[in-house]
Amino acid sequence: MSFDLSVIPHKNIILAVTGGIAAYKSAILVRRLKDFGFDVRVVMTHGAQAFITPLTFQALSGNPVHTELLDPEAEAGMGHIELARWADLVLVAPASCDTIAKFANGLADDLLSTLYLATKAPVWVAPAMNQQMWAAKATQRNLQTLVEDGVHVIMPDAGEQACGDVGLGRMPEPEDLARQVAAYFHKAQRAIAEKFGLLAGKRVTITAGPTREAIDPVRYISNHSTGKMGFALAAACYAAGAKVTLVAGPVSLDTPNGVERINVKSAMQMLDASMTQLEEGCDIFIATAAVADYRVAEVAEHKIKKAGDELAVSLVKNPDIVATIAQQQQRPFMVGFAAETRNVEEYAAGKLVAKKLDMIACNDVSRPDIGFASDENAMTVFFAQSYHLEKRELEKASKQEISQQLVEAIHDALLQK
Ligand code: PMT
Repeated sequence: MSFDLSVIPHKNIILAVTGGIAAYKSAILVRRLKDFGFDVRVVMTHGAQAFITPLTFQALSGNPVHTELLDPEAEAGMGHIELARWADLVLVAPASCDTIAKFANGLADDLLSTLYLATKAPVWVAPAMNQQMWAAKATQRNLQTLVEDGVHVIMPDAGEQACGDVGLGRMPEPEDLARQVAAYFHKAQRAIAEKFGLLAGKRVTITAGPTREAIDPVRYISNHSTGKMGFALAAACYAAGAKVTLVAGPVSLDTPNGVERINVKSAMQMLDASMTQLEEGCDIFIATAAVADYRVAEVAEHKIKKAGDELAVSLVKNPDIVATIAQQQQRPFMVGFAAETRNVEEYAAGKLVAKKLDMIACNDVSRPDIGFASDENAMTVFFAQSYHLEKRELEKASKQEISQQLVEAIHDALLQK
């Protein structure tokens, strides 16, 4: 089974450390879990503190360490019930014989045993102990009880032990444990996506096509956008389970099946319609439209008559729609497009930052075979730094196929939110 483990959902992990020499490995485990983007809070038993200090875990996790059940100060921060609710998974590593016995018998005389009873999150234990203690009938009986109670028991490794014995009882390496946790969440997420679609239940607004900026009642300023890219993306988002609204400039394309469409002409109208969508609820905003950067300062009421050899028309800047939406307090996940004719990637990466976007897809519109009006496109996708995702090259393909890959890129980034 192979997973792209760079793409896992943001989740909260409680790492519970109990008394055992393997506790030193748990410090590295915090690091590895954080490498996968998990938020980690550490709970320590008194036994664990004989091997390693809470300060170490505080520094590595970036969160306060929880050690006491009946400490009013600690309870005022995040008490055992809140901790139990906060966790998406409780990983006990190393899990001592004593803790396993407590769990098996429902004791609740310290923070960890209480948290165990109070949480609805999956609980994983990674036993680590002397090989004779591991083999003891009582330990095996308790582990069997835990399995029957739905706890996931991670088998210890065999090998030389700190006490000099050789046998089963070593805690698996931190890298291995962290990968198992990441794979668990990744698999669960994929199962949901496969069943309901990558964007199941998301409300998506897409701007598409050109805008037209009137000069007079018969003339306008516009560009070569046909809306093909935005309409293909709308169809892909709908197929991925999203509720999609297209804010479409003047184009002659049929509305994709299942998609709601709002027709606009000018940039100002596109902004108004986009803001309305935001108010009505929008989780993902995708700006494929080629919006005119300028509009005519004063649109002539009547057709301008031909006179003289030159005609000067004064232009004023249009608002930047995608940047305006990105500035709102309750902002959706923001996807921009960038149409460039040179320094494509450099300019696109600049727009990602300047417009405060989460993701940007750029295309080279100087190429006649892709971009404007073509049925095909080729794109480079950049993510905002906070996503820790590598840029993606989408090779030349139909706009439908490119849209499918963009949906996957959006989904992957959303997992990390
Ligand atoms: O419609 P097609 O014929 O299929 O062509 C597709 C396309 C080439 C138009 C599309 O792939 C594309 O590149 N769209 C973005 C075009 C563009 O205006 O890029 P830009 O680099 O000028 O703008 C950057 C981003 O800001 C874009 O997301 C744009 O929608 C947005 N913007 C720009 C100006 C403005 N006033 N408001 C905006 O929201």
